[in-house]
Order: sequence, then structure tokens, then C-alpha cells
Amino acid sequence: MELPAGLSSALKTAKKILVLTGAGMSAESGVPTFRDARTGMWKKLRPEDLATPEAFRDHPKVVWDWYEERRKNVRGVSPHAGHYALVEMEQHFEHFLLATQNVDSLHQQAGSKQVVELHGNIMLSICSETGKRIDEEWIKSSTLRPPASPHHPKGLARPAVVWFGESLPIDAMNRAMASAGDCDVCFSIGTSTLVQPAASLPFIALDSGATVIEINPLPTALSEKAHYSLQATAAEALPAIAAVLRD
Ligand code: OAD
Repeated sequence: MELPAGLSSALKTAKKILVLTGAGMSAESGVPTFRDARTGMWKKLRPEDLATPEAFRDHPKVVWDWYEERRKNVRGVSPHAGHYALVEMEQHFEHFLLATQNVDSLHQQAGSKQVVELHGNIMLSICSETGKRIDEEWIKSSTLRPPASPHHPKGLARPAVVWFGESLPIDAMNRAMASAGDCDVCFSIGTSTLVQPAASLPFIALDSGATVIEINPLPTALSEKAHYSLQATAAEALPAIAAVLRD
């Protein structure tokens, strides 16, 4: 894949990198996105029925079963060449932070180290009342769906993901915000840049003078403002970018 000359030189002189990823980053591994016209989860299902504390309060089994389906899907997928290219790129820079909106651990599975999960992790469970972690052994040993929580008499086990109306993990967001305000280059990969506050990160980087590179086959609200908007998939573009750094 041919890359704009300016992009390569911006990368070669950069020291601090922020990478924001979204569902499109996992699409080529077989994890459906949320808003893709044909295959997006939110095209078939209503987020307010499945990804809110209210939905879980009113229909705990429906919500739990839906996340169990998604967990099964995540257990069956593997990272692609784009994930491994990001692992390679991480070695090249003094400061590299990968802030992901994805809950599937594919970056960590590929070997990425400096990762913050802005929307949590679907493979983990927490208590609906206290937020305390619940071991998978407890989940597996329970016949109830969702299982009761060992941490609170009224608590239920719920997936450790951020639902609409809930705040993001403060440490993860603070690290991402700090990096957005201080990076030389910010990548926005496979995200529709529609869900706040994560969607504001590339714009904060723009305002702080960073070079912003978007990778997305389709245009987003960021495309016109980004210095480089590569209309390509993550698995196509990222290996080409990693190759530039090898030269
Ligand atoms: P979306 O489904 O909104 O957007 C996915 C983006 O990835 C779209 O802009 C696609 O064009 C692009 N895309 C699709 N395939 C791609 C590929 N192979 N390579 C690169 N890009 C590709 O997903 P997000 O932006 O991640 O939050 O959604 C943000 C949040 O909304 C999610 O974290 C989730 C969802 O509701 C919560 O549930 C809190």
C-alpha cells in the first residue's frame, strides 16, 4: 500500500504516539462492529435494550445471555496482521499508548503492552452493586444466569464493560487524555468517532498540534480534519506503516 510521503516523515521524526482503536480494528478478526450498515450490532439491536444499567436491572438474563454470545465469539477469534503491526510499532517509539474502545483483548493477545481499555473488558465480570471483580471460577460454578454476586446480597455478576450512561475507567481516560495533549502523532483506527468521550481524543491531539492519521474505509467526522485519512482497512494499512519504520 502506497503511503503519502509526508506521513512517513512525520512518523520517522515522532517520539510520542497515541493510537485510538475502535470496533473496525477487530472487524477483520471476525468481531462485528456496532454501526456497520449491514453487519453492525446496533443495526439489529437497540443499545438501550442491552448496553445500559437500566436494561440489566429490568432484563438481567437477556443482557447476560447477549454478552455470553459475544464472549463466545471473542473466544473464537485471533489478532490479524494489523494488530501485530501495532505491536512492532510500539517498539519504535519512546512513548506509545494504545487506547482502545474494544473490549475483546485482541491487542493484548497480539502482544501490545501499553494498552488502556476505555470501555472495559468483556471477558471479565464484576458485581453490579460494588463493582468488585468476580472470578471466572465463581461464574462457571454457578447455575444461575446471571450468577449472584459473592460481594453483595443484592448483587449480580455483570460483564466488566462500560455501559451507556456510565463513566469510563478514570485512570484509563486520564492516561489517554494526557497522551492526546502531548503526542506527536495520533492514529484513529476503525472508529466512527461518534461515542464520547473517546471520540474527542483525536480532536484534542489535533488542537495540540499533533499529526493525526485516520485509518477507516469509510469517512467519519474526523476525516476532513485529519492530516492523513487512509481509506483502507486496519489489516491493509498498518503493516505498510510498520514497514516504513523498518527502513
Ligand atoms: P462503530 O461500529 O461505530 O464504527 C466502526 C468503524 O470502523 C466504522 O467507521 C467503519 O467504517 C470502520 N471499519 C469497519 N471495518 C474496518 C476495518 N476492517 N478496518 C478499519 N476500519 C473499519 O464502532 P466504534 O467507533 O468502536 O461502546 O464504536 C464506539 C463505541 O460504540 C463502542 O466502543 C461501543 C459502541 O456502542 C459502548 O458500548 C460503550
